[in-house]
Formats: sequence, structure tokens, C-alpha cells
Amino acid sequence: MATLQSLIGLINKIQRACTVLGDHGGEGMSLWEALPSVAVVGGQSSGKSSVLESVVGRDFLPRGSGIVTRRPLVLQLHKTEGGVDYAEFLHAPKKRFTDFAAVRREIQDETDRITGKTKHISNIPIQLSIYSPNVVNLTLIDLPGLTKVAVEGQADSIVEDIENMVRSYVEKPNCIILAISPANQDIATSDAIKLAREVDPTGERTFGVLTKLDLMDKGTNALDVWIQHTISVLEGRSYRLQHPWVGIVNRSQADINKNVDMIAARRKEREYFESSPDYGHLASKMGSEYLAKLLSQHLEVVIRQRIPSIIALINKTIDEINAELDRIGRPIGGDSGAQLYTILEMCRAFERVFKEHLDGGRPGG
Ligand code: GDP
Ligand code: NA
Ligand code: MG
Repeated sequence: MATLQSLIGLINKIQRACTVLGDHGGEGMSLWEALPSVAVVGGQSSGKSSVLESVVGRDFLPRGSGIVTRRPLVLQLHKTEGGVDYAEFLHAPKKRFTDFAAVRREIQDETDRITGKTKHISNIPIQLSIYSPNVVNLTLIDLPGLTKVAVEGQADSIVEDIENMVRSYVEKPNCIILAISPANQDIATSDAIKLAREVDPTGERTFGVLTKLDLMDKGTNALDVWIQHTISVLEGRSYRLQHPWVGIVNRSQADINKNVDMIAARRKEREYFESSPDYGHLASKMGSEYLAKLLSQHLEVVIRQRIPSIIALINKTIDEINAELDRIGRPIGGDSGAQLYTILEMCRAFERVFKEHLDGGRPGG
């Protein structure tokens, strides 16, 4: 996820500050509470899992036609100092996965373990952590697709159940929403946009993503009208959102069957836009890599906005430590006093660092 590199320094500082605050034993703040999460929302087979994989830059999610994602997948990316990439599931903490195809199989198996090999869904999340020097600390959430009707073997309540499950994730104010709509369906009826508008009326945390642009260019008259409509969305003239829409070409089912890898898929996507008679003029603002870049810029802005509350928490901790030192009496020579002094010093250091970020930070940079 090279485009997220600029975030690493800032997030690492927050992580260290959170650790220090946690060490003090106060209410503290967990790193994951301090940071935003990113969730994908959309209809079934709209390309949610594919988009999420592209943003991470790794192949590891089950994808395919029909209802493949049947439990929420909460994916925590952890930046490591070096070494090989590996993954761990919360349900199998001792097992390290270095083969990402095995990660995909384990997601499928663990889904079936709760739901059976059915079309049922479960709101019990699968929790997966990926450790890599090439990611930033971030939570990504893959969700089952919104549907309009239950299919055979599903309860009638499934439509509502999925919607409620998805809403419970995306209504959180620190959740950034990737609202995925396939370009070969009418945005006017997009469940992703409907739900995103409901939980984020101002659109400040919603990114509209149009997938499957490649599935429209068959050149009939009806399609020409449709393509003109799609161009107007991508140019920001229709269905305007606060953030620009991004068009995407993910791997097709045939590509998946042929095991086309991420690098080849991205190359193909780039070539598609660059040579497209319809979208060529927008090529620099289309594609998975551009989406990842937009997202990283937005994350940086959002995380910077958190800094004042982090400073407030640090100050509260400094006050608590001072009160504690007063209580045990200073000067003190004991271990616990010395430890408190160390934490106090670290808190003060972090306060300075974050104040510098506040003063020097240029939003959107
Ligand atoms: P999800 O159900 O929303 O998670 O969608 P998936 O990512 O599993 O994709 C569903 C199916 O649509 C798979 O067969 C993908 O290959 C296919 N697909 C997704 N995005 C695109 C796209 O942009 N172009 C093409 N041709 N196929 C896509
Ligand atoms: Na699917
Ligand atoms: Mg999926």
C-alpha cells in the first residue's frame, strides 16, 4: 500500500502515545479507537471484496458471483519494522499464515463453520490481522452485500438483517465508507448510496466507487446513453458527492479463474482507462491506485483532526500523574515514582510532537 506511506510516521507516533497512555493504566485510548476504519458497502457482487483487496494491494479475500462474503471481516493492518508478511486470525491465534491463498481458504472455512455451507449470513465478525512492513495501521471492514430479496434457502428477514448489520458498522462517525455501485446498474437504485446518505448525510466520509465500467462498452444505442450518464457521474455532474466518484475496473470472474495477480490487474486497469474512448479524458482520476491515494489523503486529514483530542487525553494523563506524584510525595526514589516520571516525560514529549503536527500540518497533503 505504497500510497499510504505518508501516513506511517503520524500513525506510529499515535501508536506510541497510546501505548504510553495505556501503560499509565488510566482510561487511556486504544490505537484502534484513535484511528478511523474503512468499510465497503454495496449490493451483492458489486465488487466490494475486489475493491478492498486493491486498496490493501494484496490478494487474500474470497471473491466471486453470488453471496460469497457472509460474515463481516474486520481486517486490522499492522505495520511491522521488517520481515515477511504474515496473517493471523483471532479464532486461531497461534497459527501464522504466510501463504495468502491459505488466508482466503481459512476465511471461507471459518465462514462455513458458523453458517454452514449455506447462503445464510452471520453478524459474528471474522477478525484477521495482517502484519507487514508495507501497510499502515488501519482497520478495513468487508461486509456482506445488501440485497433486495431473499433467495431460496434464506430467511425472509435476510434483507433487513444484512442492512442492519452493515448499518451498525457504517453509522460509526469514525467509519469511512466506500460506497460501491456497479456501473451496469442504475445509481438511482443503488443501496450503497441510499445507506451512505442515511448515515452520512453531508457525505464527508463517503467515497462513491463505480465498478465494472468494462462491462458496459458493448456499443449499442441504449448503452451509449448509459455511458454518457456514467461519464456525467464520474465528471461530478450527476449524483454529486462531497468527494469525487472513482471509476474502477476490477478483475473479472474469468481473470479470477485464471489467477491474474494484483500487479497484472492494475496494469490492465490502467491500460483500460488510458485507451478508453469514453473515460480516457478522466484516466488520471480513475482506478484502484487513484482511489487508494484519495483515501490516504482523506485519512491523513481525519487523523490530524483527532490530534486535539489526543493532546487533551495526554494532558489529562499528565495531570493524573502529577496528582499521583503529589500523593506519594516528592522527591521520591522508589521504582513506581521513577516509572511515573518516565511516563510523564514521554507524555510531555508526545504533547510537543502532536502540537508540531497541528501547527505544521497542511490538510490534504
Ligand atoms: P462482492 O460480492 O461485492 O464482494 O464482489 P466481488 O469482489 O466478490 O466480485 C463479484 C464478481 O464480480 C466477481 O466475479 C468479480 O470478478 C466480478 N467483478 C467485480 N468487479 C468487477 C469489474 O470491475 N469488472 C468485471 N469485469 N468484473 C468485476
Ligand atoms: Na459476491
Ligand atoms: Mg464480497
